[in-house]
Amino acid sequence: MTDKNPNKIKNMFNLISKNYDKINDIISFFMHRYAKYKAIKDLKILPNSKVLDLCSGSGDLGKITKKLNKTTEIIGVDFSEEMIKSARKKNKNITYELQDATNLSFKDNSFDYIVMGFGLRNIEDEQKALNEIYRTLKPNGKFLHLDFNNKSYLNKIYDKIIIFILKFFIKEIDAYKYLIESKNEFYNNKEIIKIFEKHNFKKEKSKTILFNMIAYQIMTK
Ligand SMILES: C[S@@+](CC[C@H](N)C(=O)[O-])C[C@H]1O[C@@H](n2cnc3c(N)ncnc32)[C@H](O)[C@@H]1O
Repeated sequence: MTDKNPNKIKNMFNLISKNYDKINDIISFFMHRYAKYKAIKDLKILPNSKVLDLCSGSGDLGKITKKLNKTTEIIGVDFSEEMIKSARKKNKNITYELQDATNLSFKDNSFDYIVMGFGLRNIEDEQKALNEIYRTLKPNGKFLHLDFNNKSYLNKIYDKIIIFILKFFIKEIDAYKYLIESKNEFYNNKEIIKIFEKHNFKKEKSKTILFNMIAYQIMTK
């Protein structure tokens, strides 16, 4: 099992923050952009909604949300100072806060939508994070979760190619080895829906895309 000690995870994301966007483009052959766009579009956010981009990283999901829905109010949250700096630079019209997803400062029933991309699998206390998502979502609010769909056949081939490519591009190879390992230990689409349902969410929709390599789920409170 990968070590998900929160301090270790935070340091790792601080370390890779400068190259994070570039490396994401390289290792996903730009496909992460399509996956993020497709998932947010499918969420069909209503005008004037309040949206939380949880584990925002450099802020891609919030950015796409704002582009598609000018009237939304978006708050991005991450616990890596460097990721937050990078998100603030990229997205001037989004508010970012340094917070831990397992202990959010927001009141109960604060958000119409919570979106989370490639975040949950890095969190040691997943139960606490899911409890916080449920607590801060309004009744009938929607939670969009996006990540790799573990156990897809192509994912295994992808891992081998990616480690090979990364050796040419980055110094922080250990961090990316962690990201690949954590992806392989994480749930597949069906498993994660069961986890969400145990936390009282109801499934509205789930989709696997990009030859089943990526999955997203839209769950309702
Ligand atoms: C793989 S990145 C994903 C970033 C972005 N959502 C995206 O889709 O590109 C995961 C992010 O989760 C953040 N993170 C991990 N654990 C967290 C926690 N407990 N609280 C807040 N942020 C966390 C990391 O700092 C990192 O920026």
